[in-house]
Amino acid sequence: MPPFVATAVAHPNIALIKYWGNRDHELRIPENGSISFNLDGLYTKTSVRFDPSIEKDTLCINDQIMDGPDLRRVSQFLRYINGISGKHYFADVKSENNFPISAGIASSAAAFAALSLAATKAAGLDMSEIELSRIARRGSGSACRSIPEGFVEWKPGRDDEDSYAISIAPTNHWDLVDVIAVVKGKHKSIGSTAGHTFARTSPIQKARVADAPRRLALGRDAILQKDFSALAEIVEIDSNLMHAVMMTSNPTLLYWEPATISIMKAVAIWRQSGIPACYTLDAGPNVHVIVLSSYITEIKNRILELPGIENILVAPVGGAAKFID
Ligand code: PMV
Repeated sequence: MPPFVATAVAHPNIALIKYWGNRDHELRIPENGSISFNLDGLYTKTSVRFDPSIEKDTLCINDQIMDGPDLRRVSQFLRYINGISGKHYFADVKSENNFPISAGIASSAAAFAALSLAATKAAGLDMSEIELSRIARRGSGSACRSIPEGFVEWKPGRDDEDSYAISIAPTNHWDLVDVIAVVKGKHKSIGSTAGHTFARTSPIQKARVADAPRRLALGRDAILQKDFSALAEIVEIDSNLMHAVMMTSNPTLLYWEPATISIMKAVAIWRQSGIPACYTLDAGPNVHVIVLSSYITEIKNRILELPGIENILVAPVGGAAKFID
């Protein structure tokens, strides 16, 4: 029997309204909904080859053979795909990122979105966008948002069936850009999979989750109406709220470095002086500065004048995950 092969690419995404904490950790059903946009120019490309003649999975990321927890996580995901297709084969998985994993950009979203497309296609399955989003969610929650195009909302749902992401506005809807300030220093910290399990230990999490529908409505409306100042206000509050939960959970998660705070403060001052910019941070010290595309050069130059900046990446709004030949 021949091997079954497929290749797909997907972008990472940046959440404007964040999720943090799961209602169900195994199925990765989040406690609250979230809104993001895909990051164009950054991508993961993944090929999956189910082969009836091999006796274990292999995983190669950026030409490096992976073992241990990374391989186990991918294998678990492939067994789930085997269960849907009814074809119980092992696979060779080959993946490459065009952005440095060490840059601290969440790579698991793009990785599991691309893997979902490639693995289902290689297994002979023909999936709808919603089905693919649900499948990607099982690999990494935020991966479900890297399946549809442009601006995306993850409806939290309550179970496997109704927890998935949909596009709320197409890629060309609004020319926002994520200017990512990569902060200097070794970022050895707790990843999001573990972090989600600590969220409930923070006394703030309940209030954050209860208020999420309000923040989602404000974020969604600001995007649909292209109202930057309304978006900026809710994006920064939402990011600060998530980090307040992280800082007050047990164990404490404090992702910020001194340079992180310098950028956050500077962005607030720049906005007061009329520049449409706001910040949001994931589970790490890098600052995502969201701006209108006409301000990219201005913002880049200003960020580079601040202390502790290692690198800057620029990502406009990106399209959906897709198959390639
Ligand atoms: O889905 P995960 O495990 O990559 O978690 C993502 C968590 C944040 O990036 C901090 C927030 C979000 O909504 O993307």
